Amino acid sequence: MTTPDESVHARLDRLRRDRGLLTPAELLDLAEHGVTVLDPFSVIVSRRVEIGPDNVLHPGVVIECDERSHCVLGPGNVLYGGTRISATDGGSITVGASSLIGDGGTRILAGAHESITIGDGVRLMDGAEVTGDSLLGHGSQILGRISARSVELGAGLPYTHPDPDGRGGVLTGTGRVAGVLVGTGEALGEVSDDMSDFEPERQRLYHPEAPRLGPGPTLERLTAEHAGAVLAFERENRDFFRYSVPDRGDEYFTPDGFAERHRALLAEQADGRCHFHVLVNGWGRVVGRVNLVDVADGSAEIGYRIAEADARQGLARTAVEEVCRLAAASYGLSALTAVSSLGNEASRALLARTGFTEVGERRVDGEKVMAYRRTL
Ligand SMILES: CC(C)(COP(=O)(O)OP(=O)(O)OC[C@H]1O[C@@H](n2cnc3c(N)ncnc32)[C@H](O)[C@@H]1OP(=O)(O)O)[C@@H](O)C(=O)NCCC(=O)NCCS
Repeated sequence: MTTPDESVHARLDRLRRDRGLLTPAELLDLAEHGVTVLDPFSVIVSRRVEIGPDNVLHPGVVIECDERSHCVLGPGNVLYGGTRISATDGGSITVGASSLIGDGGTRILAGAHESITIGDGVRLMDGAEVTGDSLLGHGSQILGRISARSVELGAGLPYTHPDPDGRGGVLTGTGRVAGVLVGTGEALGEVSDDMSDFEPERQRLYHPEAPRLGPGPTLERLTAEHAGAVLAFERENRDFFRYSVPDRGDEYFTPDGFAERHRALLAEQADGRCHFHVLVNGWGRVVGRVNLVDVADGSAEIGYRIAEADARQGLARTAVEEVCRLAAASYGLSALTAVSSLGNEASRALLARTGFTEVGERRVDGEKVMAYRRTL
């Protein structure tokens, strides 16, 4: 004979098993893998969910994943009460490490063929909702009752880091937002239903006294992961760059336009036609770019740009010298060329300082420029 208590537990277990969910006892057993479930009766977790060690699940957390879907939580996340994570109909959700998800009923929902990837150290707070194909890079945040569909938040440093320019992208406010890309060090505040005037701000605006350059920087070959940080760099310095070099055009600064351009650059690089580099400070922020384009017959043309706030500290000189070394040692080049408009004193001083010699004036798009060459 069973006691009334036993029958309640048995029924509860059967209900959960029939739906592919872990029983309360199985949830408690997760403690053997370092997972803390504070109230196993109010927490619902599908058997198919993969949960890493050191996660804490507060009361009322629901993590669903049907047979066609995929849901993985890395280590060390905290899921606050009311959080709902749901991958259904072939959806995929991946959460990295050490993220804070909740309070206030945060929802992460991936439906048919949708994929949501959340990096490490992300904060989703106060009723944030993430749907569609979304990529929330390391250190990014959604703060507020925001329904974010198919958004990309640039990866960066944790929100506690002293350099606001290096922190992950942020969405704050209340409302709906779809298809936006917020770069590293940027924040899109006051989210509203009409995002046609979408214009992220620098997080630095709110922390003007924060330190800037940080340790480093180092030169890295361009990869897909640099997208958010590169976009933030280009946005922040658009006015500074267009003073000396042609503007990249409005389309470049839109999420789709930028993503397409970034993909195209990586394809050209994979073909060996170009070599792109970003100069990244020790805190993960892009502070400059040095590129080699039109690789042919052992030669290529060099181009460069440094963030306005980090200029005149020798960054371009160090980076150009390093790219010259790479060009000879790794890319098999024997000469580099460059052009500079006649009035660009900074660029001309840089070329002179890094061993380029003038080879004569010519016209590019109607403008007189000085051509340079350096043998490696
Ligand atoms: C050109 C640019 C990359 C220089 O970057 P930077 O990090 O400030 O350069 P560095 O600090 O390494 O300085 C290199 C040389 O340029 C000189 N220089 C830098 N800025 C200068 C300026 N505004 N006016 C005159 N000389 C300048 C430095 O004094 C140094 O010369 P020196 O060693 O003889 O003293 C930067 O100004 C930039 O991005 N400009 C906008 C984009 C651009 O013009 N790109 C080049 C297109 S051809």
